[in-house]
Amino acid sequence: MKKKISFIGAGNIGGTMASIASGYNYADIVLYDINGDFAKGKALDISQMNVVNGHDTSIIGTGDISEINDSDVIIITAGFPRKPQMTRDDLLTANAKIIGLVATNVAKYAPQAFCIIVTNPLDLMVFEFQKRSGLPKHKVVGMAGTLDGARFKCFLAEEFNVSVKDIEATVLGGHGDSMVPVLSSVAVKGMRLGQMLKMNLTTQKRIDEIVNRVRHGGGEIVSLMQRGSAFYAPAACALEIAQSFLLNQNRVLTVSAFLDGEYGDIDGMAFGVPAVIGDNGVKRIIELNLDGHETQMLRQSVEHLESLIFKLS
Ligand code: APR
Repeated sequence: MKKKISFIGAGNIGGTMASIASGYNYADIVLYDINGDFAKGKALDISQMNVVNGHDTSIIGTGDISEINDSDVIIITAGFPRKPQMTRDDLLTANAKIIGLVATNVAKYAPQAFCIIVTNPLDLMVFEFQKRSGLPKHKVVGMAGTLDGARFKCFLAEEFNVSVKDIEATVLGGHGDSMVPVLSSVAVKGMRLGQMLKMNLTTQKRIDEIVNRVRHGGGEIVSLMQRGSAFYAPAACALEIAQSFLLNQNRVLTVSAFLDGEYGDIDGMAFGVPAVIGDNGVKRIIELNLDGHETQMLRQSVEHLESLIFKLS
């Protein structure tokens, strides 16, 4: 039997994901939006694209949330994107209301689903969604670290003039200015950053510039586009997580996941950590061996999230 993926929010990211996932052939798709006709229009457009591409995926556009019933995966992008000069945290109050509403509906119609949150401010929306839906913590994650990691790898590949496939790099922590690009994780096919610095393949100044660019990678795109925020890479990253669940791939992906004593005894918070994603959702959190500076930055990132949580209730 085919799987079922529902996208809540049919905007830039939701629509892009629906068009990519319609090529998988193993899952039927529901594209829901508060503006039902907008979702219906996009679904029609995608189903006509599928004719040309030879895909027989069923895709329904709808303004009726009950259509998400019995979904295997739900990916949530409902909410407002950033405008220029805004931080993700500026979206907190407006998007928390939307996520609260969506959470109630997911609990009602698809409580068994694996849920991937994309709406910003990401980690706080993951926290809010889980609290309001009551879904098990291992079935709720946020998409951010895979995106920040992709940006990090993209800039490092440019710097070293090698294929993106041969770069290793991880970004931990909250999906915001406090995120932690982990320099001790950077490698080109096993060659560590320290060795590359010694060989003058790059400089500390260049690496600092890359770290700064990663931290502000979303903002760079918002200021260039002026209308809306990034959507191609966020769509691809959220689907990577969904596929690992649906196909039980056990990929190690950096997601905003609930911690249970890992990383210096952090409990009950969700933020970016590498995790094994398979058919039960988050199967295991991977604890990286961080150096002292990275540990301190991670703590600051978590403290920043904690300082905003009170605004949610
Ligand atoms: N239920 C369902 N859909 C909703 C609701 C709701 N309560 N409220 C808003 N929406 C829909 C809007 O109608 C819109 O179609 O969410 C969609 C959001 O789409 P875009 O504005 O195009 O935003 P997008 O770029 O897709 O980003 C969505 O993801 O990365 C984050 O910061 C980004 O928070 C933003 C979210």
